[in-house]
Amino acid sequence: MTGPPFFHMPARRLDGARVAAAIRAELMPMVAAFQARRGRAPALDIVLAGDDTASQVYVRNKERAGSETGLTVTVHRLPADTSRDDLLRLIERLNGSPDCDGILVQSPLPAAMGKAAAQVVFDAIDPRKDVDGFHPHNVGLLAQGRPALTPCTPSGVMELLDREGLAIAGRHAVVIGRSEIVGRPMAALLLQRDATVTICHSKTQHLARMAATADILVAAIGRPGFVTPEFVKPGATVVDVGINRLDTRDAVISFFGADSPRVAEFDRKGSTLIGDVHPGVETVAGALTPVPGGVGPLTIAMLLKNTLRAAEGLTPHS
Ligand code: GUN
Repeated sequence: MTGPPFFHMPARRLDGARVAAAIRAELMPMVAAFQARRGRAPALDIVLAGDDTASQVYVRNKERAGSETGLTVTVHRLPADTSRDDLLRLIERLNGSPDCDGILVQSPLPAAMGKAAAQVVFDAIDPRKDVDGFHPHNVGLLAQGRPALTPCTPSGVMELLDREGLAIAGRHAVVIGRSEIVGRPMAALLLQRDATVTICHSKTQHLARMAATADILVAAIGRPGFVTPEFVKPGATVVDVGINRLDTRDAVISFFGADSPRVAEFDRKGSTLIGDVHPGVETVAGALTPVPGGVGPLTIAMLLKNTLRAAEGLTPHS
């Protein structure tokens, strides 16, 4: 950027929780219509193996949001020592069940299942019931520009950008992170909408400088406060996909400052959440998603939307 220094107002807050509530409100009559037509609600089966604390919270939130929207949500809780074969047998049963429309296996799977377990398990899910969009069939359709069931977090980001009136076509989007859950499908969805897309990752050289060329910057690295103001072009839209827990007071103060309400929150609860984006970015970005209350609720809303679409037997978009 040339010209005088850019003294910027605090970034517009992109209220993911509000957009997610709107999406869920739109889904409710569609769910009710399905129920009236088919004599049963769209049904989501969630598999939670093991006792990962964060996963338990996520699954509870998915279960609650699904029920509130009128879906039938069944959570299959399996002990951490469940064998991979037992999990695969459950998937096979759900694949064959006419009373199951969507299957979600919460990751991470217990370490005891082995490194390749997640891939084997995701591959076993019937692509028509794959509400996470992780099956190679659905990944392939997305890569071809024929998205069917697409991963929930990046789909939620697209909804947010659209509903907040932020242009995508022709913009330079930089995605930091190349995970199968977020980074890669995020890049594919942005490309599908005619953004110019750069994917950055741990081996990228001059990462901050690269990120600072973005009109739309998506941070999905899983490192607290990694994206500092130098990564951000003044006025850019910054989407923070990270959810990291800070559990020392010093860490909270170093990121948020001693006067921040986050310190009081830490004193009350023993932890606070931070995204992958440093709080200082607020003074540089044009628009920014908060953590919590940004991308997280959208992920859940898109899961419900995918479940309804799966129940209705969708075909790929052209
Ligand atoms: N773990 C973290 N995010 C996700 C997600 O979107 N889907 C599943 N199944 N597991 C996750």
